[in-house]
Amino acid sequence: MVDEGFRIHSNVISSQVDIHHEYGGVVPELASRHHVLNIVTVVDSALKTAGVALPDLHGVAVTAGPGLVGALLVGLQFAKSLAFISGKPLLAVDHLMAHLEAPFLDREDAGPAFPHVCLLVSGGHTVIGVRRSPFDLEVLGATRDDAAGEAYDKVAKMLGLGYPGGRLIDDHASQGDRAAIRFPRALRGQSGWDFSFSGLKTAVKQHLANHGLPADSKGLADICASFQEAVVDVLMERVRQAVDHTGLRQVVVAGGVAANTRLRAVLEREATDARWQLFVAPPILCTDNAAMVAVVGQRRLEAGQLADLALNATSSWSGRIS
Ligand code: KG4
Ligand code: ZN
Repeated sequence: MVDEGFRIHSNVISSQVDIHHEYGGVVPELASRHHVLNIVTVVDSALKTAGVALPDLHGVAVTAGPGLVGALLVGLQFAKSLAFISGKPLLAVDHLMAHLEAPFLDREDAGPAFPHVCLLVSGGHTVIGVRRSPFDLEVLGATRDDAAGEAYDKVAKMLGLGYPGGRLIDDHASQGDRAAIRFPRALRGQSGWDFSFSGLKTAVKQHLANHGLPADSKGLADICASFQEAVVDVLMERVRQAVDHTGLRQVVVAGGVAANTRLRAVLEREATDARWQLFVAPPILCTDNAAMVAVVGQRRLEAGQLADLALNATSSWSGRIS
């Protein structure tokens, strides 16, 4: 729950990590079923933590997509019912836009000005672009295959680390040698804006086929650190390219992979060296959360863009935020 100034009043997260961990990835039906089980308690707890009741709300924001349709439908149906019984406006939220709002939360200053460069790196998407205004994202490039977070999750699964892989690889990588193995950096040095991570994933698979699973924690840490360095290198190249190309001096980095400690450290150093300003949310607000969804809701309310009760879920991204 957020107010007009994007200050967080409550941000209740009901993690399903333990449920999906043993499967090495999200099982869609289980995700939906646990949404059904948890949604009432989570909303109740969000209201209580914020110290408000339904009549105090200005609107009900809900993610319409992109995402797993079964899980989205649970949220949509609940939000519609809430809006209907409370008489509050229903506000439709694009999940990618919500991620891009995370750095606007709980700030003392106004946050990034428009336009700014943005890099969105999550489990489902990898996009570099220019956000010209809240509802206008110019996409410069995106991944041709796997998303950055997806590559983390798949490599973690190959290494037997479990789900979600990003944070686990991040942890192991901190003990490893980033130069131990030279994994490929796809499309690096080529013109254009796209990303590709499937070759990197295959290279790790090939390495494991040739050398077997690492025998000790140092071997594991080296693979994690070397893989992570390849991911960070290709992301950083596009950020540099976007700053040079646009001349913009503010960069937003968002999505679950923005919680990565190495990516954050390299971004901070680059921002200082190249004299641009980095906006990245605290790690807990980089991964999926309700507060970032509420920011989009507030912007929609201000713009008078109210959804109607026919709002439906979308699984894939249209390539724009609208
Ligand atoms: O944004 P998010 O919470 O959900 C999606 O919209 O996809 O992102 C989840 C992704 C997962 O792939 C997860 O492995 C990755 O973010 N992730 C990380 C880290 N924490 C989460 N990747 C790298 N380093 C991390 N510390
Ligand atoms: Zn997300």
